[in-house]
Amino acid sequence: MSNTPTSLNVPIMRLDRQYTALQEEFEAAALTVMRSGIYILGDNVKALEAELAERTESGFGIGVANGTDSLYLALRALNVGAGDEVITTPMSYIATSEAIVRAGATPVFVDIVDDATYLMDVSAVEKAITPNTKAIIPVHLYGQAVNMDALMSLAKAYHLAVVEDCAQAVDATWKGKPVGGFGDMGSFSFFPTKNLGAFGDGGMLTTSSAEKAQLLRQLRVHGQTSTYDHAHEGMNSRLDELQAALVRVKVPHLSAWGDARQRIAQRYTESLEALSVLELPRTQTDVGHVFHQYTVALKAEAGLDRDAVVARLQERGVGVRVYYPIPLHLQGMHHDLGYTAGAFPVAEKACKHVLSLPIFPELSDDEQRYVIETLKKILS
Ligand SMILES: Cc1ncc(COP(=O)(O)O)c(C=O)c1O
Repeated sequence: MSNTPTSLNVPIMRLDRQYTALQEEFEAAALTVMRSGIYILGDNVKALEAELAERTESGFGIGVANGTDSLYLALRALNVGAGDEVITTPMSYIATSEAIVRAGATPVFVDIVDDATYLMDVSAVEKAITPNTKAIIPVHLYGQAVNMDALMSLAKAYHLAVVEDCAQAVDATWKGKPVGGFGDMGSFSFFPTKNLGAFGDGGMLTTSSAEKAQLLRQLRVHGQTSTYDHAHEGMNSRLDELQAALVRVKVPHLSAWGDARQRIAQRYTESLEALSVLELPRTQTDVGHVFHQYTVALKAEAGLDRDAVVARLQERGVGVRVYYPIPLHLQGMHHDLGYTAGAFPVAEKACKHVLSLPIFPELSDDEQRYVIETLKKILS
């Protein structure tokens, strides 16, 4: 085992390494598309749709422009709109609640379970249901699945639709079954930093309903039912053929990259568990966590200033990030919903104390040791 380097620059992510490792394949795939003359909704989009449908055991995949449109289109396809409420978590990226507002509906938040899983508290969902509730959006945050048994039985009992936000969780499982295949629809993002990322924006919906799949295919192309015949109000949200071809190069490597993330996560856990000021991420039993992020929390009782710790790590070349500093219910965008500080104390506390460490399949042993040792020095 080599010694820990005394100085290194370890960004939160190094996308260039994936490019370098598969350079020839990426370039060949891109050239083939460019030479084909078919750039929109061609064979690569169809093939990637089939690959993700199979991977999520859901029957159909519908490629769209990004993971924000995919949430919005899912709600539209489920007829969620003005006057409807959609229950979700305040601990997510803004796209989750923004899509609800864009569909004309009202986001209703419930708190997260704890600051070790950061996932929506499914036991709080029932109390948030009103006669206007139409759907639930669970977010499989940081790569860990929400308890889908509990969530789906609640949704069934109250006849609510479920759109899984799987943007951070391709290949994550609940009791061995992949996310994206539990709810009415699964929504995926191919934003470059995601576990399965494109070289630009991209997204995908999954569903087991042939009827919904057909509707989604229409909605992503201006509600078109046949050429220049527009039965519904839709939008332009297509997945580029070029992006689909590039993502397809990555698909065969996804499982091995997932294993690498597991090993890195395990090493973080083993190396950091003695640090009493840290709350380490907890993987629920029955879950296949894909560690899109390895997120730790500074325990509140330690009295440490999270932002100061982040700044000190960054000064030493450790590219930590905060996902997310402001919970969704306190975002300016949602001011009119009337939530105030204290509404969701667990999420609010988490947003004050979390930080995510570099985790990507190509992270070297030396780089990880440097992250660990630097963190230990700063915290002890
Ligand atoms: C949880 C979550 N939902 C939705 C999105 C939106 O995806 P996109 O950036 O592809 O629009 C993201 C990613 O940015 C996300 O992390």
